[in-house]
Amino acid sequence: MLSRKAARSEQEIDPSLAPVYSARDLSEEIPRYRLPERSSSPRVVAQLIEDELNLDGNASLNLASFVTTWMEPEAESLMARTLSKNFVDAEEYPQTAELADRCVNMIADLFHAPDETGATGTATVGSSEAIHLAGLAMKWRWKKLRGAAAGSATPNIVMGANVQVCWEKFARYFEVEPRYVPMTPTRYVLSVDEALSLVDENTIGVVGILGSTYTGEYEPIQELASALDQLQDERDLDIPIHVDAASGGFVAPFNSPELTWDFRLPRVKSINTSGHKYGLVYPGIGWSLWREAELLPDELIFHVNYLGGDHPTFNLNFSRGSSQIVAQYYNLLRLGRQGYAKVMGALASTATWISSELQATGRFTILSKTDALPVVCFRLTSEESWTVFDLSAALRERGWIVPAYTLAPNASEIAVLRIVVREGLGRDVAETLLSDIRAAIERLDAGHVPAPPVKRGKGAGSTRHVRRHHNPGHGVC
Ligand SMILES: Cc1ncc(COP(=O)(O)O)c(C=O)c1O
Repeated sequence: MLSRKAARSEQEIDPSLAPVYSARDLSEEIPRYRLPERSSSPRVVAQLIEDELNLDGNASLNLASFVTTWMEPEAESLMARTLSKNFVDAEEYPQTAELADRCVNMIADLFHAPDETGATGTATVGSSEAIHLAGLAMKWRWKKLRGAAAGSATPNIVMGANVQVCWEKFARYFEVEPRYVPMTPTRYVLSVDEALSLVDENTIGVVGILGSTYTGEYEPIQELASALDQLQDERDLDIPIHVDAASGGFVAPFNSPELTWDFRLPRVKSINTSGHKYGLVYPGIGWSLWREAELLPDELIFHVNYLGGDHPTFNLNFSRGSSQIVAQYYNLLRLGRQGYAKVMGALASTATWISSELQATGRFTILSKTDALPVVCFRLTSEESWTVFDLSAALRERGWIVPAYTLAPNASEIAVLRIVVREGLGRDVAETLLSDIRAAIERLDAGHVPAPPVKRGKGAGSTRHVRRHHNPGHGVC
């Protein structure tokens, strides 16, 4: 989010935070946008901030996000105890670095990295950073393979128009031409034939998404790999696949173990996943993995020695917190394969149940698939006197955050709602949600006009959207 500095005129109209507790502790107002001249009591300041944060949505009712909103108290306690550790200080905190190594090993193993190829990986802040790193590695690999011809050429990357905004960012920030496979009114993931038609000698890679942000569907990665194998045989073009398994990386291995999408396919050279989505860790952790160490050009690895020792790093950030890494390790040990399988199985069955209940209302068509992410994506079956945006707003009146958005280009006349099933959305909470959906439909049928979404306060900043086409609610991840 970009924040704009409030103009002085705005600051003067609304200069201070309401001094609710001033009779007790505050002798003067606390300015909202300027650094206060004096210090204040920690208790009062914490209370003021807490009061403001109460206006945020309730994280448990936020069904828009894939990102974890609940962890076990033992994990929270470990996180709290490691908040002060900077992960980059590997020399000072060698055991934390060791835990990250073990996480990379476990996740590489989960994704079937072969023993003999020296798979390599790194912790990141999320899938976006992981994707930027993987994209950079693909670009440098392409540059090396193309040799002198790369000088005058523009590299491109092929992906579905349903990619998450981070791919568009990668393309723009790192000057790679994005080539989008369009959707159709009945297909919401990439078509292999169309992807192949966009590939040429300047393609740094093709992206396959394991769990589209829009509908939760898995893209046909095995089919894509076979098509690219054939292309190599016929035209001698060796194009790697990167799998964006931001959400599916911790779902498919447990719910669809027979689905071949990962390093079992030699064509798949790198994979990202978000530890903070179905890895079940609070926000701030992702993973990037490469099938072979050689896929990471030396020029992208920095060796840092001024903290003591010699530590190779491949990251966009330098300093970062350790807590999420420790929490990921906790989850991997605590749950094991059996635990993740139990959680993911339960989420899938909740998603299937919600889908069938929504279908039973006779008002909705379900677009999500059962053999994919545990999300429920649905549209209105026929025209109503209200829209999915009205239903989203009506549900917000009860506290539920269920985003409404339009699908990617060429399918963008289709407006949908999406419920992401996470831990915490158990059967009893889901029953309440469904009964609130039915009640909202009744109110809307009767002509109720829901309150518009809340606008952030003046001077609080503006967000300039740079994406050309629609994304689930911009800000929904
Ligand atoms: C398919 C996909 N890729 C990438 C991202 C970005 O992930 P992160 O929020 O971990 O940066 C998301 C977020 O929802 C996603 O759904």
